[in-house]
Amino acid sequence: MNKKRVLSGVQPTGNLHLGNYLGAIRNWVESQEEYDNFFCVVDLHAITVPHDPTTLAEDTYTIAALYLACGISLEYSTIFVQSQISAHCELAWLLNCITPLNWLERMIQFKEKAIKQGENVSVGLLDYPVLMAADILLYEADLVPVGEDQKQHLELTRDLVVRFNDKFATPEAPVLKMPNPLIREEGARIMSITDGTKKMSKSDPSDWSRINLLDSPELIEKKIKKAKTDPIKGLWFDDPERPECDNLLTLYRILSQKSKTEVINECQDMGWGQFKPLLIETIIETLRPIQSKYYSIRAEQTYLDNILKQGATKASTVANQTLTKVKNALGYLPS
Ligand code: AMP
Ligand code: TRP
Repeated sequence: MNKKRVLSGVQPTGNLHLGNYLGAIRNWVESQEEYDNFFCVVDLHAITVPHDPTTLAEDTYTIAALYLACGISLEYSTIFVQSQISAHCELAWLLNCITPLNWLERMIQFKEKAIKQGENVSVGLLDYPVLMAADILLYEADLVPVGEDQKQHLELTRDLVVRFNDKFATPEAPVLKMPNPLIREEGARIMSITDGTKKMSKSDPSDWSRINLLDSPELIEKKIKKAKTDPIKGLWFDDPERPECDNLLTLYRILSQKSKTEVINECQDMGWGQFKPLLIETIIETLRPIQSKYYSIRAEQTYLDNILKQGATKASTVANQTLTKVKNALGYLPS
């Protein structure tokens, strides 16, 4: 039986943090043997907000190397760079022409990011979800493992599939494959460590708000020591009045691979002074093997370049087949 296809991606904007790891990459790694996986570094998405051309290539390598360091295996997965496959831009254009403008204007992520850009907000930022739909649809992905914040973009992708197939295909022979989101409840929304009501994000101007996968043990210790807490005695989950407490306990629970009950039994009577060192240790020990693997991969540039080259070859074969099908359905001359 053919394996189901998985596709996902992360933008090379800054370092990966624990939210990216727990909401996305860790899940990709855990289920990769079951699926035929494509993981891309979505560098075309990275320029939808102002970017620095002197760091883009380096950041792209960093994310690809982190995929490998986190445990993505080439036996089950293809790793590639989005901008190296021209079909992504081409399909995005074709889909643009069937996407109603108001579908994009109501995207929450657009509205949030657009506020920050003011007058300079680009057409690319508005169009971001269509490019993301192209990423997914080119590989005929069955499943798209992402964090909670991407749910609306996945819904838009699904709406586009219905619209395209209705207009340009038949129910018996659909052209675009309907994807499903794969959002694991656990870790789907890791919050900032300086404000438990905001999600942990690469775009937060303060680096103290997140733990990056490549932070040194010393920095991790400093960040957790500074992490926001409250003066209430005892620790417990799920209290809307204590978002920081829930977030830090959740981080500890997921990283230590313990159940909620185990964590409650262990930590309910602790004060922050007792709990924080435990959390610091757990984070450092989780990240230690990832960091050491990362640095050894980065020391072998040719190895990484070869992986990305092979990835691009494999990805472009699949992507171009879909692009041809779409162009045929739209009535273009054969190329
Ligand atoms: P991005 O950082 O926007 O490129 O996101 C890459 C992946 O990480 C996506 O699947 C996001 O849904 C996921 N992600 C980003 N931030 C978080 C967070 N705070 N908690 C859980 N998942 C997240
Ligand atoms: N928009 C996603 C994010 O910020 C990144 C992304 C781009 C993506 N294309 C994708 C994720 C395709 C999954 C599938 O997290």
